[in-house]
Amino acid sequence: MVRVAIVGCSNLGRMHAKNYLQLPDAEVVAYCDLLDEPRAIMKKEVFDPAGVEPQAFDDFDRMVKDVQPDAVSLVLPHSLHYPFCMKCLNAGLHVLCEKPLVTETGHAVDLLAKAKETKRILEISFQSVYTANFQYMRDAIRKGDAGDIVYVHGHQYQGWLTNLAKKPEKKWRLKKDISGGGQLYDSGSHLLNGMLWATGLKPARVYAEIDNRTEEVDVCSSLSIRFDNGAVGSIAISGETWQPGMVSRLIITGTKLEFTLHHSGQDLKVYGPTGEVTPEVPENRTPQANFVNAILGKEEPLCPVEYGLTLAKFMDAVYESADQQKPVDIPV
Ligand SMILES: NC(=O)c1ccc[n+]([C@@H]2O[C@H](COP(=O)([O-])OP(=O)(O)OC[C@H]3O[C@@H](n4cnc5c(N)ncnc54)[C@H](O)[C@@H]3O)[C@@H](O)[C@H]2O)c1
Repeated sequence: MVRVAIVGCSNLGRMHAKNYLQLPDAEVVAYCDLLDEPRAIMKKEVFDPAGVEPQAFDDFDRMVKDVQPDAVSLVLPHSLHYPFCMKCLNAGLHVLCEKPLVTETGHAVDLLAKAKETKRILEISFQSVYTANFQYMRDAIRKGDAGDIVYVHGHQYQGWLTNLAKKPEKKWRLKKDISGGGQLYDSGSHLLNGMLWATGLKPARVYAEIDNRTEEVDVCSSLSIRFDNGAVGSIAISGETWQPGMVSRLIITGTKLEFTLHHSGQDLKVYGPTGEVTPEVPENRTPQANFVNAILGKEEPLCPVEYGLTLAKFMDAVYESADQQKPVDIPV
């Protein structure tokens, strides 16, 4: 049995808790939030209906000392991911961290080294890549069924600024010192990680046009990418359109198959030279199920810390390119 604690009790923290409660090999033993209200909602909406009574805390260090969990789900603002992951690994805890793992390459390098040193699992909760459709697509690409990947395109747009204006508690996303970046690191990271995770390609060069509008962080971005295998890619992301929901499409084209789906993993279509192909997809998983199984040695972690390093290197180059207004090479 893996004894898990949840840190950060927002609606997403509650989803982590609900997913653990479905698992026969996991027990939620504690939850922590600085604020009373999210803790109270967590108890009322998640734990009371399930008939369980994990211990509540407003202080992470005290929780770890008193409860000594095996593993922690971190659902915190971005700049807290690095220090809290470090604390957890140093305390011998496995970590499932919300996306993005970090917002600078040096932090990802440190965390990768610390996870190896402590032999703990550090996994990123990019839930899209745990879906059946993303797993199918990655496996098809790895097996060579798609041929060589030659072209990747993604777009994503929504009324991100409009939505944030209605939710003051989420507005830390517009403060660079807390978020580390804007729409690219927020919902955009699902699209970017999905592209890199599924294709297995490494970006070798990027040219970025970024407009912060009147904010501290990126709101609208256009990226032109060259991958290590010579494939080209383009990404367009906007956080200032009118749609309350997220409009998104990722297209990955190989010499034999083309895949297209929403960055969340929904609505997969596969095409070959003779028309649409009906894919045989595996089962959907949750990040929490894979994390617990990985701790128990039953599965490999699907989105380990290495993907945080790949994304951070890419994102550092994206911001550098936008600042310098020229293409930037990305060290492998
Ligand atoms: N995977 C997804 O689809 C998805 C969706 C939403 C958010 N997220 C990610 O989840 C993370 C949190 O985002 P959110 O929207 O839930 O943020 P939020 O601000 O709504 O919630 C964060 C919670 O953490 C608590 N907190 C802050 N500092 C703390 C500390 N030191 N100790 C304990 N609790 C603390 C806050 O009180 C708050 O309740 C971010 O990484 C975000 O990108 C992912």
